[in-house]
Amino acid sequence: MSAVITVHGVEFGYGSNGGSGGFAAEAGSDQELVLKGIDLEVPRGSMVCLVGPSGSGKTTLLNVMGLLEKPLRGQVIFDGHDVGRLSERELEVLRLKRLGFVFQSFFLLPTLSVVENTSYFLPSIGLSRGESKDRAEEVLSQVGLLQFRDKLPRELSGGQRQRVAIARALAKKPAVILADEPTANLDRKTSDTIVAVFQELREKQNVSFVFSTHDTHLVSYAQVVHPLENGKLAAPVKQSPNGGGAK
Ligand SMILES: Nc1ncnc2c1ncn2[C@@H]1O[C@H](COP(=O)(O)OP(=O)(O)OP(=O)(O)O)[C@@H](O)[C@H]1O
Ligand SMILES: [Mg+2]
Repeated sequence: MSAVITVHGVEFGYGSNGGSGGFAAEAGSDQELVLKGIDLEVPRGSMVCLVGPSGSGKTTLLNVMGLLEKPLRGQVIFDGHDVGRLSERELEVLRLKRLGFVFQSFFLLPTLSVVENTSYFLPSIGLSRGESKDRAEEVLSQVGLLQFRDKLPRELSGGQRQRVAIARALAKKPAVILADEPTANLDRKTSDTIVAVFQELREKQNVSFVFSTHDTHLVSYAQVVHPLENGKLAAPVKQSPNGGGAK
């Protein structure tokens, strides 16, 4: 199985004013780094989980893997591209066409309805208005939210908002989905539905997933689990080829 994302020796620190770009660790001190030499592979068509305490760097690592933050040192290979050699425009195209990102804080657009949020990126990847609407409705139905299609985000519960964020990532039919604690606001039954959607995409369409999570149920579906502590990865824990939780 080839790797869809490879991370080699990645170091990252936030700027002193909280900005991105990874130029904070001028002194080269370990303390200023949030990621301290990360090596990690995401095999194509697999589910990989990042687990670890709050503040250990899970979101930061996902942002680096999702081409949203540039490492201070080290290399990220995404889909065969050495990310450090790409222009901003090339990165944007990769993010748009190959990646779906489910953010920990969702980032839904408050003035757009559920269906408009879900279809937001689709015209940019070449779908017509009609195709975008159909695709959005298809994924909203998969996450159990079709009847909420015309609501605004503020009219939804936290778990419903989280599912809109998931639907928006799925709608692009990307090769890779990076999801930051995607089941954190969901009850067990709803979480089961979402995990089943992910699992089907992995099995039938070879989609690759990276999750950060505290959810042991979601972890049980991963082929590889990477414990992250204070910006460093411990040895990965490998599970069965279909994930420990697959029934
Ligand atoms: N924008 C930022 N500017 C400065 N420091 C940041 C920023 N985002 C995160 N950090 C710091 O980086 C470290 C890692 O944060 P990160 O959000 O990656 O952790 P996490 O493992 O995702 O935690 P959680 O489980 O709470 O989501 C923390 O010490 C945090 O305070
Ligand atoms: Mg986080």
